[in-house]
Amino acid sequence: MSVVDTTKVFKQDIFKGKVLLCSGGGSGICRGMTEAMVKHGATAVIFSRSKDKLEKAAKEMSAKTGGQVLAVAGDVRNPADVENAVKFTVEKFGRIDFLINGAAGNFLAAFDHLSYNAFRTVIEIDLLGTFNLTKAASQYLKKSKGAIINVSATLHYTGTPFQQHAGAAKAAIDALTKHWAVELGPFGVRVNGIAPGPIAATVGMEKLGPAFDLTAVPMQRMGEVQDIAHSTVFLFSEGATYISGVVLVVDGGAWLNPAYPAYPNIVLEPPQFNKL
Ligand code: COA
Repeated sequence: MSVVDTTKVFKQDIFKGKVLLCSGGGSGICRGMTEAMVKHGATAVIFSRSKDKLEKAAKEMSAKTGGQVLAVAGDVRNPADVENAVKFTVEKFGRIDFLINGAAGNFLAAFDHLSYNAFRTVIEIDLLGTFNLTKAASQYLKKSKGAIINVSATLHYTGTPFQQHAGAAKAAIDALTKHWAVELGPFGVRVNGIAPGPIAATVGMEKLGPAFDLTAVPMQRMGEVQDIAHSTVFLFSEGATYISGVVLVVDGGAWLNPAYPAYPNIVLEPPQFNKL
């Protein structure tokens, strides 16, 4: 993963005493989001399916930041697992101030080759996972007057080919961001989204990357995990205390260009999509 250092822009101890729970925090964008929060003083629990990967990531992040990151394994699709992740966090650290719903699954698949189960799987991981974890954590977020970031995408702003499963899930997640901003706002809880564009060195880019035409990105570069980390720190910080219900697009202007995202030469026949 590329370097994550948000301390040149934000003060180092702004999240001291605060606790973050992050699904999908073992790799890629969500790992960078977590690392940034810990660098600014938060303690964190990362939660996803792969126990070994998670524990390794937690150890590495703790060593790198000098902070405390713990891992709890489970599946966001399973209500018992999300309740366990919340219980674990509260037992270890006594509170939850920030929640990042980042666990997601994706792949490129044309409509004709997307099975019933494939569509349902992505909806369940992304959408139900976001609902489940928020439901389980909400009482603690209300108590701390905390904040939530739902990781989204820009796929559904246009009609990105081969991405209907993820796009449908993220569209619904954006709806939840708005509904929760309204319902949880009176309890002091802010709810926002971040919609990353193409971010280098992430699982998402490994899977979807070969198809992206980066010359169509107005900023003429791939995003870095650091770009998402900065947005995360801002949205959770006191600089954003009147911002709720917003999905912050961090994509170098990409989705606004009709030429992006372009999958010019790809025909997703079964033998080919298995390689992506
Ligand atoms: N193209 C088409 N269908 C695919 C696919 C692909 N590349 N990869 C998986 N599927 C289908 C499977 O064939 C299966 O459908 P089937 O039962 O009809 O054959 C269905 O999706 C579920 O796959 P499975 O591997 O059983 O689900 P899982 O829960 O173990 O894994 C995935 C979920 C598929 C999303 C997996 O890629 C994953 O866990 N990814 C996590 C990381 C990730 O994708 N991050 C990127 C975020 S941008």
